[in-house]
Amino acid sequence: MTDQNNAIKFYSGQQIPVELHKVRIVQKLYLKPIEERKIAMEEAGFNTFLLSTKDIFLDMLTDSGTNAMSDNQVSSMLQADDAYAGSQSFYRMEKALRDVFGKHYVLPVHQGRAAENIVSQVFIKKGDVIPMNYHFTTTKEHMELNGGKVLEIYADDALEIKSDKPFKGNIDIDKLKAVYEEYGKDRVAFVRMEASTNLIGGQPFSMQNMRDVKKICEENGSMMVLDASLIGENAWFIKQREEEFKNSNIQEILLEMCGYADLIYFSSRKVSSTRGGGIVTNSKDLYLKMRDLLVLYEGFLTYGGMSVREIEAMAVGIVETCDETVISQSPSFIAYAVNQLDDAGIPVITPPGALGCHIDAKGFLPHVPQQEYPAGALATALFIISGIRGMERGTISSVRDENGDDILADVELLRLAFPRRVFTLSQTMFVVDRVKWLYDNRNLVGGLEWIEEPPLLRFFMGRLKAKTDWPEKLMAKFKQDFGESL
Ligand code: F0G
Repeated sequence: MTDQNNAIKFYSGQQIPVELHKVRIVQKLYLKPIEERKIAMEEAGFNTFLLSTKDIFLDMLTDSGTNAMSDNQVSSMLQADDAYAGSQSFYRMEKALRDVFGKHYVLPVHQGRAAENIVSQVFIKKGDVIPMNYHFTTTKEHMELNGGKVLEIYADDALEIKSDKPFKGNIDIDKLKAVYEEYGKDRVAFVRMEASTNLIGGQPFSMQNMRDVKKICEENGSMMVLDASLIGENAWFIKQREEEFKNSNIQEILLEMCGYADLIYFSSRKVSSTRGGGIVTNSKDLYLKMRDLLVLYEGFLTYGGMSVREIEAMAVGIVETCDETVISQSPSFIAYAVNQLDDAGIPVITPPGALGCHIDAKGFLPHVPQQEYPAGALATALFIISGIRGMERGTISSVRDENGDDILADVELLRLAFPRRVFTLSQTMFVVDRVKWLYDNRNLVGGLEWIEEPPLLRFFMGRLKAKTDWPEKLMAKFKQDFGESL
């Protein structure tokens, strides 16, 4: 399935995602020689989280806190009203969130996982289950810390890498019914839907699926919780892929989506291209249950751990999320890269989703066993040959079982994030070019092993090394093919 998104038709007949913005503030980038990139990777313990941005050319680690801000966002920061309580900046953000999400009560938090902490503490008790389309790392940790169990009830084919299914982020309705039969409604803390399901390749759910899930929630008296961190992109895909909405605008789609949720939380590091986060609801009862924890963990009700400057930029950013030229930019560039890689026979998650381009490392490096971390190996190899930093989303990001064996991840992905309006088309072409070269030379890439493995969240701080001298061989081949070119 190929989304055209907002691509412009060229005289040649090609559809090109032309940038519908102009660049007025820029940041210089450095593309270092391959020898220096290899040393930087070794010093970072073959872990892209431990690289320093001074060594990176294109930082595609994440879109979190790295989307470009608009001129209106930056200028709004100057009118910030510094006050511990009752800041006008907060009231401006509250109004924007009421307009866009259609929810009256607004609780600001310092980032998405802070919302997860409060929601989990208030609504999950020991022995509860939380059915959802798919987990996010921090979400799952908070739920489990509070005694809950995450149940992922996606469709059987949702994890297939190559697919033409438009809504792989859907909840499987039969599986949801089965959860109520097995556990009973009292043990279901709530049902969670994550917009543009992050860990399975930024895949959206459909409006029809939300309606079906909502119906079952109502029949069982369960609350529906929406993780709206990537809701703008999900709304964009609904417009593109769900016939009923092809003439709707993003604002209308967002309001209908939010209307089904009893409680919405989000990371503003994504949704409004700022930092921060929030929780919104129309229920005074739910609001009051969370309010006191907010003051305890985050700060007073009118700043929630954020600077008022960020709050001002959030107010503007959340409204701009409804602008189609803003919200379609990242999916359009992702679609461009995914389609180019797919056409070259490179295993990449299709259809193109939100957040980034997700390369299937098991398919890319079939000779590297999962115990030697193919997604981690691919991330490090790509950095060495290009200066592009991606994120491992595979077994390194998993944990060990009680016997000390790795719990092998469902999917081994290298995620190349496309923060909104940050990279140009020629930079995107560079990404495609270097991934293609690496694919043609994939047999040179080998596995990784630990040298320092922290017990908790090992993917952030852990250090690894190459199992053989494959990085040297890869570098030699690069020099042979590209000569002195960076
Ligand atoms: N929910 C989703 C769907 C997310 O993608 C994230 C963060 C969070 C919650 C947590 O929000 O970082 O503000 O505390 N995702 C980032 C990423 C980290 O790189 O995909 P946070």
